[in-house]
Amino acid sequence: MRRVRFHAYGGPEVLRVEEAEPPVAGPGELLVRTEAIGVTLPCVRRTHGDGNGGGDPLPAVPGGEIAGTVVAVGPEVTGFAVGDRVTSLTFKGSYAELALAPAFLADRIPDDASAVEAVALVRSGQVALAALSTAAPRDGESVLITGAASATGHLAVQLAKLQGVPRVVAAVSSAAKAEFLYGLGADEVVTYDQDSWGEPADIVLDGVGGELLPRALAAVTEGGRLIFFNSGGGTVPAYELLAGSKTVTGLTMRRFTTVHRERYEQHRAQLWELAGAGRLRVAIHAELPLEEAAKAHEIIEARANLGKVVLRP
Ligand SMILES: NC(=O)c1ccc[n+]([C@@H]2O[C@H](COP(=O)([O-])OP(=O)(O)OC[C@H]3O[C@@H](n4cnc5c(N)ncnc54)[C@H](OP(=O)(O)O)[C@@H]3O)[C@@H](O)[C@H]2O)c1
Repeated sequence: MRRVRFHAYGGPEVLRVEEAEPPVAGPGELLVRTEAIGVTLPCVRRTHGDGNGGGDPLPAVPGGEIAGTVVAVGPEVTGFAVGDRVTSLTFKGSYAELALAPAFLADRIPDDASAVEAVALVRSGQVALAALSTAAPRDGESVLITGAASATGHLAVQLAKLQGVPRVVAAVSSAAKAEFLYGLGADEVVTYDQDSWGEPADIVLDGVGGELLPRALAAVTEGGRLIFFNSGGGTVPAYELLAGSKTVTGLTMRRFTTVHRERYEQHRAQLWELAGAGRLRVAIHAELPLEEAAKAHEIIEARANLGKVVLRP
């Protein structure tokens, strides 16, 4: 099978297409013939050797989400069979024609949905819903979302509106993304370099972090909360928490999927229902062949994507 690996940390140029033996499904795992592979900011960061507390041991295969068809079922797996069409977070390198997925995170793809739609909807939608449900907006509360045009952000904007949030502020690096975001229902669009991001918000969903974190925290109203779900790191100015009675809550899907199992299940049902009814729109920015993984990373590094970037093996 073909797969993409990197042997040294660096930019898109370190990604190489190689031939490899297919992996073997271990206990609790599915072996999936991939039809769509999600490209994400964490994948890009990990290729550089940063993000989530350090670099992967080299050589490494990037990737963390797939959709495709089950070709083998590992021991102790129940509820799935060869031939099932599934999508899943993988938490393991998945830029490959065959990839392993933990069965407990796998989700059947409805007959009328494509693999591309599935991979774009389920993982990013899960992150968006996990962030929103962690923040738990109360009636009338406003939400500001950084990285709002990303795969996760563009779904979070729509899901916040669908949950009845009266004021959703989309924050992005470029004004060129404004039309896209207004089209998804954002009430306001601000760019990071603006002196003011408008009225502070009750809730900030921070999908960027790093140098933007102090600014994102400053955009939280007194007594408000920030959900930190990005892989950008950063330092929380603690005095601001005290002075503004603000709360910062960290969120990882790795923990959310295990500790909040029921909510995870509810969220995936909700995502398919909303998408099926045409109420939630998945924007696909680019579909590229696996061989062009480097080009896919270039798009993310240029911060140019409006929605999801997907690889097709
Ligand atoms: N907590 C979790 O378990 C979890 C799981 C999945 C994803 N996430 C986080 O969710 C966020 C969005 O991820 P995604 O995969 O949905 O994003 P994506 O579709 O890959 O989009 C990337 C976007 O992020 C923004 N960005 C911010 N800093 C960037 C940087 N240094 N380099 C490139 N782009 C940067 C850019 O938009 P702007 O230029 O407009 O900011 C860019 O267009 C990420 O921070 C990711 O770590 C968290």
